[in-house]
Amino acid sequence: MGGPFDRILDRSIVFSFDRSGYTRHQRYFAPGDLQLSLAGQVALVTGASSGIGYATAQGLGRLGATVHLLSRDPARAEGALNRLRQELPEVQWASTILDVSSLAAVRRYVEASTEPIDILVHNAGILPDQRSTTAEGLESTWATNLVGPFLLTELLRPRLRPGARVIQVASGGMYTRRLSLEDRNFERRPFDGVLAYANTKRAMVVLNELWAERDPQRSYAAMHPGWADTPSVRSALPRFYRVTKSILRTPAEGADTVVWLAAEARGPSGRFWFDRSEAPTHLIPGTVEAPEVRSALWSALMADSAR
Ligand SMILES: NC(=O)c1ccc[n+]([C@@H]2O[C@H](COP(=O)([O-])OP(=O)(O)OC[C@H]3O[C@@H](n4cnc5c(N)ncnc54)[C@H](OP(=O)(O)O)[C@@H]3O)[C@@H](O)[C@H]2O)c1
Repeated sequence: MGGPFDRILDRSIVFSFDRSGYTRHQRYFAPGDLQLSLAGQVALVTGASSGIGYATAQGLGRLGATVHLLSRDPARAEGALNRLRQELPEVQWASTILDVSSLAAVRRYVEASTEPIDILVHNAGILPDQRSTTAEGLESTWATNLVGPFLLTELLRPRLRPGARVIQVASGGMYTRRLSLEDRNFERRPFDGVLAYANTKRAMVVLNELWAERDPQRSYAAMHPGWADTPSVRSALPRFYRVTKSILRTPAEGADTVVWLAAEARGPSGRFWFDRSEAPTHLIPGTVEAPEVRSALWSALMADSAR
């Protein structure tokens, strides 16, 4: 987006993912894009208790949607709900405890709910420094960032209205990885949280394309938020945080493209977005996966989500 100077800054990554990047990109946002009402539309946002998920809930509430917050920690969920109710009392808020890494919890949640859905935002995500596994035996990053959201979407599909938008909050970290399904539960090698995280985020972008191919009735989008000052950046990446804290985006700036994509289908389904523009899915040579790995991803997710 923008002129030659913008393109140079965008290639620097730092001055694109940081707050100055948002400020620069924002000059090209169409002012009318969010002048719409989501009254009567139902949005689900995972990981809504803080950071980008909270800001997404706030943004969708401001546009008039009924917003269901899906959060794993009861105390943080209650805190978030209270703050949102105070700030936007006119919005219909609902809050449910859902640990998206638990396949059993995802199944229970879908069985217990009945409402048609217009917007599904997969925002919950982790970048742990130690390996842990879920009750179903999946490595937690894989389960939280990918398998749980996959199962949630597949089970909710009959209730996703035609034209519904499904948004995945991926990460610029995925640019560093080629998708690999080998030993995805880190059973045969030392755990590397950054690698596990980047691989799941790469997988989300591929899954977004697969969903778009398989389900033309809804609109699928993946995006990355740049670098935003949120609890997980502080705790999971303390050194990165120390160096970048003065240039990080606010959570609302990180969430802006999520809200923009959720409000209305933008462009063709299955694309990848950053700051309200389509973004390339590969920046580094050698990160493009083979076609058989793409179809293997679908099979792996079907198998892992059936545990
Ligand atoms: N901030 C950035 O610069 C950045 C950059 C690239 C991508 N992202 C992505 O943005 C998304 C939001 O992260 P954030 O930066 O806003 O951090 P955050 O404030 O820590 O938000 C992460 C949210 O996910 C929730 N969560 C984690 N595991 C969960 C589970 N199993 N079930 C349900 N909820 C769960 C957390 O809940 P708890 O409160 O219980 O921990 C929290 O609400 C993540 O997917 C992250 O990978 C962020």
